[in-house]
Amino acid sequence: MKILAVVGARPNFMKIAPIFRAFDDVIARDPEKNIRHALVHTGQHYDDNMSKVFFDDLDIPRPDINLDVGSGTHSEQTAAIMVKFERFCEKEKPDLIMVVGDVNSTLACSIVAAKLLIPVVHVEAGLRSFDRTMPEEINRVVTDALSEHLFTTSPEAAENLKKEGISGDKIHFVGNVMIDTLFYSLPKTKNSVIKTELGLNDEPFALVTLHRPSNVDTEKIFGDILDGLMEMSKKITVIFPIHPRARKKIEGLNAGDKIKDNGKMRLIDPVGYLDFLTLMKSAALVLTASGGIQEETTVLGVPCLTLRENTERPVTITEGTNILVGTDTERIVSEADRILRGEVKTGKMPELWDGKTAERIVAKIIDIYC
Ligand code: UD1
Ligand code: UDP
Repeated sequence: MKILAVVGARPNFMKIAPIFRAFDDVIARDPEKNIRHALVHTGQHYDDNMSKVFFDDLDIPRPDINLDVGSGTHSEQTAAIMVKFERFCEKEKPDLIMVVGDVNSTLACSIVAAKLLIPVVHVEAGLRSFDRTMPEEINRVVTDALSEHLFTTSPEAAENLKKEGISGDKIHFVGNVMIDTLFYSLPKTKNSVIKTELGLNDEPFALVTLHRPSNVDTEKIFGDILDGLMEMSKKITVIFPIHPRARKKIEGLNAGDKIKDNGKMRLIDPVGYLDFLTLMKSAALVLTASGGIQEETTVLGVPCLTLRENTERPVTITEGTNILVGTDTERIVSEADRILRGEVKTGKMPELWDGKTAERIVAKIIDIYC
């Protein structure tokens, strides 16, 4: 049984790491099952701080191949992955392909698998923002339609999938692999020196990430958000590790005039997972549009303001610490002020976000395919 797993972009690494560990446990316990796993990196993300650092931080084995596709338009990138991944599959002849999340690498490899008649399974299936202007929503819908088995993080995902005609016996509610990685990594954060490097003592700070096209690709919207962040930085230190897409936009849209590193507003490069987790767990609040960070803040009990109009992860709102605030300057500042005044939304841990999701996924795969 040869399983080929795919990673490509930053959030994929946290998802695949615990699944590989769970496969390794089974292989060590039961060699007779003759399970082998290989890892393909598409090269969608390639900067060291968007890729390599996570292999080190999360103990992920080196990929068996890096397709090195790099950046491009959606079609260029998706097509480049498809061509190279198809060649690799024809050579390696895997019995099963595993894709995670909702990035272009996820979409490209699930299409290739389906066309080569290789079964594909999708981890983190069934999330829907119901917003097809969001590129990830297209990736989710197509990947789910092509997947033979679908692993979900929360109960509403099954409803979403059933409404799209996917049969219930293919859907498995297993919990959230991102949270496996979070629990696994928390003890390791004691070695992180990021707070010292940033000169953060015990003062409160806000942590920001932004990369969605809907936040950073339009000058007016991005400008409004940056105005809100600069206003906030008059009251609290703001740490902003800048994703390369946002960095390019800050440079390209003249938004640089709107945001300055001034001691209270700290503009830094993206950081590794252990450093980011260190910052996240001690932040007074997090402002983001990231999918994974909405989930992680819910588990850490840290207030999260999501700078979007919708989310495909509603459980972080109904059960967690997440609040959708959109992109209006005044709303961002007033919601942040409320949190700083102590009006904090408390939450609870969503069902099965318990650190054991990867074990459940691997057990199910063995049950079905081995
Ligand atoms: C991608 C995913 C998004 C995910 C995000 C995680 C898609 C459609 N989008 O968005 O769902 O939330 O990753 O971070 O798959 N760049 C670099 N260095 C890198 C990678 C990218 O400089 O290592 C720059 C390039 O200029 C590139 C731009 O960032 O054009 C965008 O990269 P891309 O992978 O196309 O999309 P993301 O915005 O990163
Ligand atoms: N993250 C990180 N360093 C950073 C910013 C984010 O390690 O500088 C982690 C974060 O903790 C989460 C993941 O990256 O595990 C989320 O990735 P991203 O926001 O790029 O993608 P999304 O989840 O929105 O698809």
